[in-house]
Amino acid sequence: MIDARSPTSPVSLTLPDEQATEALAASFAPLLCGQQVGVPKGGRIHLRGDLGAGKTSFVRALLRASGIQGRIKSPSYALLESYNLSSLHFYHLDFYRFSDSREWLDAGFRDILQDDSIVLIEWPEQAGELLPPPDLDIQIKHEDEGRSAVLTPYSDKGSLWLTTLFPAKPAPHLPTSQDGA
Ligand SMILES: Nc1ncnc2c1ncn2[C@@H]1O[C@H](COP(=O)(O)OP(=O)(O)O)[C@@H](O)[C@H]1O
Ligand SMILES: [Mg+2]
Repeated sequence: MIDARSPTSPVSLTLPDEQATEALAASFAPLLCGQQVGVPKGGRIHLRGDLGAGKTSFVRALLRASGIQGRIKSPSYALLESYNLSSLHFYHLDFYRFSDSREWLDAGFRDILQDDSIVLIEWPEQAGELLPPPDLDIQIKHEDEGRSAVLTPYSDKGSLWLTTLFPAKPAPHLPTSQDGA
């Protein structure tokens, strides 16, 4: 993975194969599940990209790494799949076929957008104004045989995730006359 950025600005990555997508997704699991000191559990991630970009692959790998077992279905038809694991609530949404905002309001989906829920949303752009900004937006694009991804934080929590996973590299040490030799 290639990292090119300054702190809390977007992170651009190259994901050469599916394993790279899955490894990236898995790295978010401890942060979202409250297993990282100083990072409160929960959060919302929007996943954008064409069909086949790897949005569902990302979500599956994140849920697996969080300890979810059994079949992880794509929520394309149901709009929502949810999972519980001890005190953690996971919601996987896919708005690809979404057309009627009443569907969202009638089903009380707004209630799931709580701070300590883990909410992963494919095709958020299809929901228009219904969704508040996420903590993190991930845009995945086809690039040769693999993918590229741009991770953009929209909250302090999203910024904290990125600085935890991609700490700024220390400035290179330039030799001075005091270094001897
Ligand atoms: N970094 C990657 N490079 C190449 N193929 C990938 C990568 N990440 C995921 N894939 C593959 O691309 C496909 C993505 O499918 P899916 O996750 O269902 O896409 P989406 O949900 O975005 O429509 C899967 O077949 C997966 O194996
Ligand atoms: Mg999908």
